[in-house]
Amino acid sequence: MSTASSTFSKGLEGVVAAQTEMSFINGTEGILEYVGISIGDLASKSTFEETVFLLWNKRLPTQPELDAFTKELRSDYAMCDALKARIRALPKDAQPMHALRTIVSSMAMDDPNPNENSVEAARHKALRILAGAPAVVAAFDRHRRGLDIVEPDQSLSFSANFLWMLNGEKPTDAMVRAFDICMITHADHGLNNSTFTARVIISTLSDMYSAMTGAIGSLRGPLHGGANEGVMKMLNEIPSLDQVEPYIMDKIKNKDRIMGFGHRVYKAKDPRAAELMTLAKQLADDTGNMDLYEKSHAIEQIMEREYASKGIYPNVDFYSATTYHCIGLQLDLFTPMFALSRIAGWAGHVIEQLSDNRLYRPTTDYVGPHNVAYTAIEDR
Ligand code: CMC
Repeated sequence: MSTASSTFSKGLEGVVAAQTEMSFINGTEGILEYVGISIGDLASKSTFEETVFLLWNKRLPTQPELDAFTKELRSDYAMCDALKARIRALPKDAQPMHALRTIVSSMAMDDPNPNENSVEAARHKALRILAGAPAVVAAFDRHRRGLDIVEPDQSLSFSANFLWMLNGEKPTDAMVRAFDICMITHADHGLNNSTFTARVIISTLSDMYSAMTGAIGSLRGPLHGGANEGVMKMLNEIPSLDQVEPYIMDKIKNKDRIMGFGHRVYKAKDPRAAELMTLAKQLADDTGNMDLYEKSHAIEQIMEREYASKGIYPNVDFYSATTYHCIGLQLDLFTPMFALSRIAGWAGHVIEQLSDNRLYRPTTDYVGPHNVAYTAIEDR
């Protein structure tokens, strides 16, 4: 039952639940802007550090401002010994998203004032989590492979430093740039499920660490950031290009969801998918993975033929799978990569929420019975 003042919307579709100055999405025309700048311009001209500054300050930095921001971020790259010990104590067969969620949660315990929620304090915590999360993912991956942790290198950018800590060797400029484009394109996206989760949590005046932890938990679901791993599994299941058509048609016949397609907001091609498609093609060519790109492209063509009328197109997770594979990442690190970038968006939203907070507390539409007599346990 709904009243005039409260209408039930399953999945909160169409409900405007927050105002933001960070990202704008036009789902019909396939437009995404961060603070008014198109995602295409940012992907081709910006860096992740500059994009984070843009999202958090609602304007592009001057060179001295960017230098200062970068320096501050780099000074937080390193993990304290207690944090490293907690990573080494994790089971080696833990999934990286569970490891990241657990360790980000535990970072509150290394902070002398974890519950401080002034905007200034929130910015510092955000910077610390953003700078430290790559070290956590890289250290956990090395721990499970039985390798020593590689210390961060403050002379390197966010993206270069992550690849360095993961692999223990300096990445090529092309790989760093590709990874940086992935970070830029995943940084913020309106009130997606994990961002909403972060805003809901901070609206109780909880704390930044709880908001980030909840958001990571949300992101890992296969309908959200976990879809990039689903895409890769699908690509691995299709033995060759000529098997794409029967494989996808079989899935469609069985009414299975095709991972990396569809979006609550976009009813046109996700502009991030367009950026990542170009990147994936280039990287696949450079790394001898053209089969993956060709299979992906064939899937897109079949889906366009079968589903364009329903507004189902590739989303950000579709071509990011091939991109991450070509960068040399293990399949279960794909969703953590999404998290490393989206921390920027989550934190920006937490700061926006704290700046003008009101507790999130929607209502339910009770559809159960009334006036039910209580029956004693021996009479049931
Ligand atoms: N493959 C096949 N059919 C689909 C798909 C898909 N990927 N996505 C939606 N549909 C169909 C769905 O079966 C339903 O059909 P019908 O009306 O006949 O029952 C219709 O489209 C509407 O689906 P919905 O689940 O009500 O729509 P939604 O707005 O809740 O869905 C979505 C959004 C992302 C959950 C969905 O498109 C999906 O499950 N996609 C696959 C998972 C995926 O790629 N997720 C990543 C999302 S984008 C980036 C991110 O957040 O990480």
